[in-house]
Formats: sequence, C-alpha cells, structure tokens
Amino acid sequence: MPPMAYTILVTGGAGFIGSHLADDALAHGHRVVVLDDLSTGRRENVPAGALFHRRDLLDPGLAELLAAERVDVVLHHAAQANVRVSLEDPAADARVNVLGTLELIAACRRTGVRRLLFASSGGTVYGEQRRYPCDEEHPKRPTSPYGCAKLAAELYLDAFRATGDLEPIVLRYANVYGPRQEPKGEAGIVAILAEKLLAGETPRIFDDGEQTRDYVHVDDVVAANRAAIERWTPGVYNVGTGVETTVNALYRMVADALGSTIRPRHVPAINAELRRNSLDAARLERALGAAPKIPLAEGLARTLPYYRERAARLAAAP
Ligand SMILES: NC(=O)c1ccc[n+]([C@@H]2O[C@H](COP(=O)([O-])OP(=O)(O)OC[C@H]3O[C@@H](n4cnc5c(N)ncnc54)[C@H](O)[C@@H]3O)[C@@H](O)[C@H]2O)c1
Repeated sequence: MPPMAYTILVTGGAGFIGSHLADDALAHGHRVVVLDDLSTGRRENVPAGALFHRRDLLDPGLAELLAAERVDVVLHHAAQANVRVSLEDPAADARVNVLGTLELIAACRRTGVRRLLFASSGGTVYGEQRRYPCDEEHPKRPTSPYGCAKLAAELYLDAFRATGDLEPIVLRYANVYGPRQEPKGEAGIVAILAEKLLAGETPRIFDDGEQTRDYVHVDDVVAANRAAIERWTPGVYNVGTGVETTVNALYRMVADALGSTIRPRHVPAINAELRRNSLDAARLERALGAAPKIPLAEGLARTLPYYRERAARLAAAP
C-alpha cells in the first residue's frame, strides 16, 4: 500500500488516456473506479482490478455513485474529444464537455469531494499563440467549439474554487500520443499514421504539413496525474514538452521507424486548424516536479510496437 491509498474515480477510464491512468493508480495501490459510457472507449481497456460503471456522465444518480464508492479523488477524462466533431455539432460537444462536467462538479459538491482534476486542452484553449512555447497566462482565444467547452469547464471549476467548494487541478494537455489511442480525430495523428502505413495505405496530411504540434507521450501525462494525486496542489498546469514538431517531420519519423516509403497525400486544412502550438510546462515542474521528459523518438519507440501488434492481429483475423 502507498503512504496514502485513495479511491480514485477515473471518468473516461475506458478511453486512451483514462485507461493508462487507471492502470497506474492500481499499480500504486489505489482503489480505482471507472465511469465510462463506451461511446469511444473500449471495455477491454479497463483494467481487471478496477470497478467499472458503464454510464453517461449525464445519467441521474452521479452523486449517489460517488457517495456509494466513497470517492476521494476524481480524474475527469470523459469527454467528446474530437475537434472536428465539435465543429459539426457544437451542442452535442457542449452537452458532454460543459454540462457533463457541471453535473460532475455538482455531484462532487453534494458529496464533499474536493479533489477534482480536469483534463483540459493546451492544444485548443489558447488558439493561435503569440509566444512559443506559451505559459498558462497566455490569452485564451479558442478557435473551435471543443476549445470553448474546455475553457468554459475550466471557468466553472475556478468559480467553485473561489466559493471554497473545490480544490481543482486543471491539466492542459498538448497532443497526447501512445498505445491504445484510437486512430481517429486529429489528436490521434501518431495512431492514424501508424495504422495507415502498416496497412500499406496513403495517409492524408492537412495543409502543407509545416504546422507544428507539441507531442507529449501518455506516460508523461500519467506521471503528471500521479504527481497531482500525491502532492495535490490546486492550479492550472500545461502538460507539454515545449518542443514544436512539424507534421511532416513527425511523418518522416513514424515512416522511418516503420520502414515505410509511402509518401503522404496533402489535403486542404480545416478552419480550426492552428498553425503552431507548444506549451511551457515550467509551472508543472515547479509545483509538482512533473514536466514531460520523454523525447519524441523515445515516445514513438514506446508506442509503435502496439500498432504493429494491432495490425498483425487485424491481418490474422478471419
Ligand atoms: N488525446 C489528446 O491529445 C488530448 C489532448 C488534450 C486533452 N485531452 C482530453 O483528455 C481526455 C481523454 O482523452 P482521450 O484522448 O483519452 O479520448 P478518448 O475518446 O479515448 O477518451 C474519452 C472517454 O470518455 C468516454 N465518454 C465520452 N463521453 C462520455 C459521457 N457522456 N459519459 C461517460 N463517458 C464518456 C468515452 O467513451 C471515452 O472512453 C478528454 O477529456 C480529452 O478532451 C486529450
């Protein structure tokens, strides 16, 4: 048992990031409860040692669930996590990302749970940046409904911090990649490239491919959550490497690592696509000693075997 063993509720714990958090919390001796409606997550991602509740955040009875499970800490990762979907149906995005978060806040307040960690998005809340990398005080001008919803949820959390009801931690993730990420949405570019290249198909790259992103490995995201659980320090923190990588450079790294010579096809950009993005995680390092440390090449080496195995499994399936 760790010095402090908690009951940790991971919303979205059947998804990419949430399932890694559930694994890590169990490995550190905590009791883990997963809430997920499996809209994009998979039941098999939920570790065997976790309790699983298949339900929508907006289903009635959330406070009763928190009370019955005696939840100490919430890692809130359930979300509609696709920027393009948010552009097509902003109300559906807000239903999950704003109203779902508000329902969770209400349930926490009713049951006295003060430690609520929220997965926000450093790739969308700032909009087109003026400084690279940018710190948390940089102006926020999201260019997508998804970014607006994440920022709105942050504001609600801050309001309930001000009332004294919550001690929230907001982690603004850059572009997270790693095993179990589904190859869809623009956030999942490493997964998409790996899957396409391994299937011998031609991946699409939006625009000229010279747009930059800050790619952070899921193990670094897990480390930031673990540090937050262990040294709960309310605040807002960027979780990024501060390193900008162009999509073209990422493509070359993934293709080289997979031994592929396929050339990408360039297609027009979508409106909300940012030109550059990178996050300064100095505050996270100062407060929690948890700034991301895994270089992209190493992160890809930790990730691509998963997609090789997945491709081999698919190829072997009848
Ligand atoms: N992947 C990234 O690069 C990235 C970057 C910044 C922020 N985030 C945030 O991190 C969190 C996890 O993202 P992810 O990449 O693992 O996405 P994901 O889609 O794999 O995980 C989200 C999970 O939430 C569940 N879910 C969706 N709506 C729900 C609802 N109404 N009720 C209950 N469960 C619901 C889904 O089934 C899924 O398992 C999200 O909040 C996302 O916005 C992700």
